Amino acid sequence: MTKVGLSPNKRTMTQSPDKTAAKKLHIKTFGCQMNAYDSERMAEALQPAGFQLTDDVYDADLVVLNTCHIREKAAEKVYSELGRLRKAKEARKTEGRDTMVAVAGCVAQAEGKEIVSRAPVVDIVVGPQSLHRLADLVAEVSSTGKVLVETDFPAEEKFAELPQRADGKRQVSAFVTVQEGCDKFCTFCVVPYTRGSEYSRTPGEVVAEVERLATRGVREVTLLGQNVNAYHGDGPDGESWPLAQLLRRLGEIPSIERLRFTTSHPHDMDDDLIALFGDEQKLMPYLHLPFQSGSDRILAAMNRKHTAEEYEALIARIRAARTDLALSTDIIVGFPGETDADFEATLDLVARVGFAQAYSFKYSARPGTPAANLEDQVPEAAKKERLAALQTLLEEGRRSFDRQLVGRSLPVLFESKGRNPGQIRGRSPYLQAVHVDGPETLIGEIAEVDISSAGPNSLTGVMKSGIEWREPVQAAQ
Ligand code: 5AD
Ligand code: SF4
Repeated sequence: MTKVGLSPNKRTMTQSPDKTAAKKLHIKTFGCQMNAYDSERMAEALQPAGFQLTDDVYDADLVVLNTCHIREKAAEKVYSELGRLRKAKEARKTEGRDTMVAVAGCVAQAEGKEIVSRAPVVDIVVGPQSLHRLADLVAEVSSTGKVLVETDFPAEEKFAELPQRADGKRQVSAFVTVQEGCDKFCTFCVVPYTRGSEYSRTPGEVVAEVERLATRGVREVTLLGQNVNAYHGDGPDGESWPLAQLLRRLGEIPSIERLRFTTSHPHDMDDDLIALFGDEQKLMPYLHLPFQSGSDRILAAMNRKHTAEEYEALIARIRAARTDLALSTDIIVGFPGETDADFEATLDLVARVGFAQAYSFKYSARPGTPAANLEDQVPEAAKKERLAALQTLLEEGRRSFDRQLVGRSLPVLFESKGRNPGQIRGRSPYLQAVHVDGPETLIGEIAEVDISSAGPNSLTGVMKSGIEWREPVQAAQ
């Protein structure tokens, strides 16, 4: 039996001695950019209820763990975090302060009520599709002291009801979730189960959000979705809009200078989207396209719906549309049944294609996914060895990609001050951080930079001559 709906002993936040004091919110985000986006939305949804963000968990009246379930022992990590939170909650209690704890995201979705029975410190469990309800749930827990679990689908309501972004500091680059969920059912992946089936926001909503961001100074937008290129939103013309059409429409917004999208499935790279890399100069020449394995046998067992050759042929077509395209990818090693020869095929594909960036993972069996039940699980030691070999190759590829940019000139979108005084930091079209001496007035602008060196994690350059700027005035100390 779980304790859902029953927790009569809990003291509530509304009983706090000083009702007028601002309430503090601490959000700990695990996982992907979609989760980071959801955390931002949660903070905004809770703002009208008087919650202000704090970095200090001991200072927080409400702690939200925004969890990720995709790899590793995600649930275990959450439970150990909850163990630490229980101590924080007890410590605050001795000072007469109450703490409400919410678990959000994919672990919340997957574990549901189980969380409250294993970790009674938790007051709210809320799945990714119910984030718009968080402020209401917090209010309900405050007044009733109940424990609430809300993990229902679907997503329509969530997007419709999430509040607009609150006014904040200058943000040059923003993420906008346009699609959620996935119908691909790769046999290793929990996403179709935790995030549900594919759902797209309407182009109208997305355009309105991006226009709002543009008026606030945003210059670059990255459209997010678990399977973003399967996007199909109901357009104002009554037609279903594919991603290419949405991107084309966003390209019409004058002050939006750069467009990106992530993450894509090779199967959904349609002709229009490929052509767009050639036609739409605002679409950056950089594509994250996971291939997972270079072995056709493993790809079939993963239910990836493509072969290694098809992946390469697709890359060749996109490169034909945009010759300066750089690629990023996701790769899994040690999928059940993967032999040395299968792994070699992965290394070969990496070497043939050449990636500017890549994310590589040891296969981790996710309960409830088909691959978790396969015999022939690869021993941990082999996975570790393969991952190390793959990462060495990928790192070489990344460094050589960076090095060949030295001596070239790149348009850099400046986002913030740099590490050193007088420096500003921006991003190249290929997402590398670029450090340059230059004035803060260039933040939010794109300027040509001559790349002079490539460090381990960023590029350094000098502003291309001919661009006028004045030395920043040093503030008096
Ligand atoms: N084990 C290892 N890696 C995984 N990924 C997804 N599920 C698993 C898993 N069970 C990786 C894939 C995916 C990325 C987001 O995470 O490479 O593209
Ligand atoms: Fe998971 Fe991506 Fe496969 Fe969908 S396409 S099941 S999100 S790995």
